[in-house]
Amino acid sequence: MKLKDKIAVVTGGGQGIGRGIVLCLAEEGADVAVIEINPETARKVATEVEQMGRSALVVVADATDNDSVVKSVREVIDHFGRIDILVNNVGGSDEGSSDSIALGGTGWDGYYRLTLKAHVLMSQAVIPYLIEQKSGKIINISSEAGRVGSPLLMAYSAFKSGVISLTKSLALQLAGDNINVNCVCPGVIWTPLWERLARGIIAMNPALKDMSPREFFEKRIVSQRPMGREETAEDIGRTVVFFASEDARAITGQSLNVNGGNVMN
Ligand SMILES: NC(=O)c1ccc[n+]([C@@H]2O[C@H](COP(=O)([O-])OP(=O)(O)OC[C@H]3O[C@@H](n4cnc5c(N)ncnc54)[C@H](O)[C@@H]3O)[C@@H](O)[C@H]2O)c1
Repeated sequence: MKLKDKIAVVTGGGQGIGRGIVLCLAEEGADVAVIEINPETARKVATEVEQMGRSALVVVADATDNDSVVKSVREVIDHFGRIDILVNNVGGSDEGSSDSIALGGTGWDGYYRLTLKAHVLMSQAVIPYLIEQKSGKIINISSEAGRVGSPLLMAYSAFKSGVISLTKSLALQLAGDNINVNCVCPGVIWTPLWERLARGIIAMNPALKDMSPREFFEKRIVSQRPMGREETAEDIGRTVVFFASEDARAITGQSLNVNGGNVMN
């Protein structure tokens, strides 16, 4: 086990990629606090963690709200006594849509709050504890969209690039305190976020109206990729485990594509 008895915090751990990350961390021996806005999914994942013989704490909180974040981190410290690993996973938009936000779109604030601000708030709240114990791992979830521009997903892409930049700055700031900060850039994973995105694209394109969201994802997205397959939440979770483990002790400020070669820069 690579993370035996480590304490991990995962934002948005109730479903999709976050759930995959939580379960991979638990599989390697970590106890996990799930910071989630949706209590139901968070409780389900916590039960799965407990069935694996690890401890789980559900903290219902809004990762985009500073008071809520500070309170949630305090709750984790009160319960577990420390934090070793922070995974900033939430992202997308908190305005109920994940469809196209081009330059003229009105949804930029929503993308900012969930994709970049949440990472900043959680980091601000957790870092003092990591500095005090002179150790820690922060893993940010960006996207391959943060590596390249996207006229369709301009806001998402811009703030995901911000996550890559934030990773480098934090890594430099915290290196002297024995804190590693790295980033994972996932490719395409079939989660509720992708389902919402596919629905939005179909709704805007009459030519696609007979396709289900899953069909659109398989035929128009996955089939175009170099390896011809989608990634899984576990692919991302295992990469997070690597960055959180001592195997990656010499690695900081890096952003790793986990995308089957679709974007290589
Ligand atoms: N799915 C993909 O293909 C893909 C690709 C690249 C990057 N990503 C990134 O991976 C991360 C996870 O994506 P996903 O597809 O699993 O998303 P998702 O929308 O399916 O799940 C996000 C989770 O975050 C929770 N959440 C939402 N707002 C919250 C808030 N304010 N506070 C606390 N929790 C909140 C939701 O309840 C949900 O459980 C995101 O940062 C996303 O941008 C996803």
